[in-house]
Amino acid sequence: MQQFEAFIAAHKPVAPSFHPHYEEALYAMLEAGGKRFRPALLLAVVSAYNELLLDGANHGAYAIELLHTYSLIHDDLPAMDDADLRRGHKTLHKRYDEVTAILVGDALNTYAFEVLSNAPFSDATRVKLIRSLSHNGGVGGMVLGQAIDCHFENQPLTLEQIKILHINKTGKLIACALEMGAIIAGQKELEQPIYDFGIKVGLLFQIQDDILDVTQSDEEAGKTTNNDEDKNSFVTLLGLEKAIEEANALASEIEEQLQSFDENLQGKLSPILNAYINRHK
Ligand code: IPE
Ligand code: IPE
Ligand code: MG
Ligand code: MG
Ligand code: MG
Repeated sequence: MQQFEAFIAAHKPVAPSFHPHYEEALYAMLEAGGKRFRPALLLAVVSAYNELLLDGANHGAYAIELLHTYSLIHDDLPAMDDADLRRGHKTLHKRYDEVTAILVGDALNTYAFEVLSNAPFSDATRVKLIRSLSHNGGVGGMVLGQAIDCHFENQPLTLEQIKILHINKTGKLIACALEMGAIIAGQKELEQPIYDFGIKVGLLFQIQDDILDVTQSDEEAGKTTNNDEDKNSFVTLLGLEKAIEEANALASEIEEQLQSFDENLQGKLSPILNAYINRHK
């Protein structure tokens, strides 16, 4: 991932302007880091099939991290989750102001597609990547999930509905990272199975995030926790113990399903999954 970090540093969104803090705010959350889970998944799939494509694949990995970072900045806004801490730093609306946080989110979101449009692949591949990221990160995924999440605060949903919420707000972007990897690697027959697998990984990722909201402090998580009381989370619906049971069951299912992929791909994905699949324990 060192090369990925270097790629980010070399592809900053814009040259400086006379705005007192626009550029600094644009980079702040990107540079604050985070797990880089989605880029790692995308790059792992590509490296399982063709290491020579990794340089170009950084465009895809960066694009998904840009879109994800925008989603976090907007998620923390007072109108949404109203959080003060993110990636170990003050959230952008606290450090600067709401206007800055909204506009930085807008800029990172659109910059993601600029980066993808410049990826060194065929036009057909670029269009496929743009379609996957825009759908899963937008109308058909993350944005829909966030809309459901915020609209139904203090209105209990059923377990099935919460799964739909989590799959949209988190699962689809994680599935998209894996699918983009398959698209870049030219593994057409892998696109659907790896996407379906990613939906499960993403659902687990969000259940774990719900658990960590009640088990970790702000300092441990690097973000505002104990913030889901009004939310439809796995913990608010099932309680902590049952939520952990659900996460364990899903983690086992994922480990088993991983075996259905070829050995090379398993070898690349399993260290990343192992690092995150047990976060709730
Ligand atoms: C947090 O995502 C929001 C969710 C979708 C659960 P991450 O846990 O991947 O956050 P970073 O990127 O490491 O900061
Ligand atoms: C947010 O879920 C998912 C996004 C699409 C950003 P959360 O609201 O649970 O994420 P955190 O806990 O603030 O990172
Ligand atoms: Mg939220
Ligand atoms: Mg939040
Ligand atoms: Mg959360």
